[in-house]
Amino acid sequence: MLDELIKEVSAAEMPSHIAIIMDGNGRWAEQHNQKRISGHKEGVNAVRRIVDIAGEINLKYLTIYAFSTENWGRSKTEVGYLLKLIMDSLNKEINGLRKNNVNIRFIGSDKELSESYNKKVIETCKKSWDNDGLHLNIAMNYGSRREILEAFNKMRADIDKGELLEDDISEATVSKYLYTAGMPDPDLIIRTSGEQRLSNFLIWQSAYSEFWFTKTLWPDFSKEEFLQAIIGYQSRKRSFGKR
Ligand code: FPP
Repeated sequence: MLDELIKEVSAAEMPSHIAIIMDGNGRWAEQHNQKRISGHKEGVNAVRRIVDIAGEINLKYLTIYAFSTENWGRSKTEVGYLLKLIMDSLNKEINGLRKNNVNIRFIGSDKELSESYNKKVIETCKKSWDNDGLHLNIAMNYGSRREILEAFNKMRADIDKGELLEDDISEATVSKYLYTAGMPDPDLIIRTSGEQRLSNFLIWQSAYSEFWFTKTLWPDFSKEEFLQAIIGYQSRKRSFGKR
């Protein structure tokens, strides 16, 4: 089944960038009579599966929404668990990711996270920055409105320093000041668990993204379903507002 689906994916029409809103960990845990944190733990296994298949089909960019600027509003226990889970997973997976030619980086604001957390993330990710296979972005303490606001502030600072001319600000300039600078916009955005909204994810970058929603809860999201989303995407006609 998996091999057949891989053959169905057109290499010529491969999306350059897929972004995923990994939703439904809490409901998965509830369905299994477990605590919410078990859902997040199981969610990491789904991340591993999807990164694996993304590399196998030669996807260039994959962005996953791990922790939003709004997620600080969850219980202290859940927030603490998620921060630790993400750091522990990075440490555990980094050698395998390096071997598989994955280039990993965290995108988001460093403001609420401790200096030592941010430092450890960069030190660990750096080990993979020579890789030129899949570019994996972990959206961590990420919020799109925050990203755009930070871009405005950086542009203003550069104008003050004389490094940017006000008259030179174009859409391309704004893109260059976002966390995703230099990356293609997402062609396809997947959201699991049946919810159908963006939740402050890649607002600027998703202007022409295709969306694919599934009721599957994130911990149950399979390689097969990921490939089906890509095959579905490849059957759509994208005109980018032109005819
Ligand atoms: C949303 O489900 C999920 C999250 C806020 C966390 C996602 C994080 C992971 C899967 C771990 C990521 C790990 C790495 C290594 C990047 P929810 O809790 O909102 O679920 P619910 O809507 O069913 O309650």
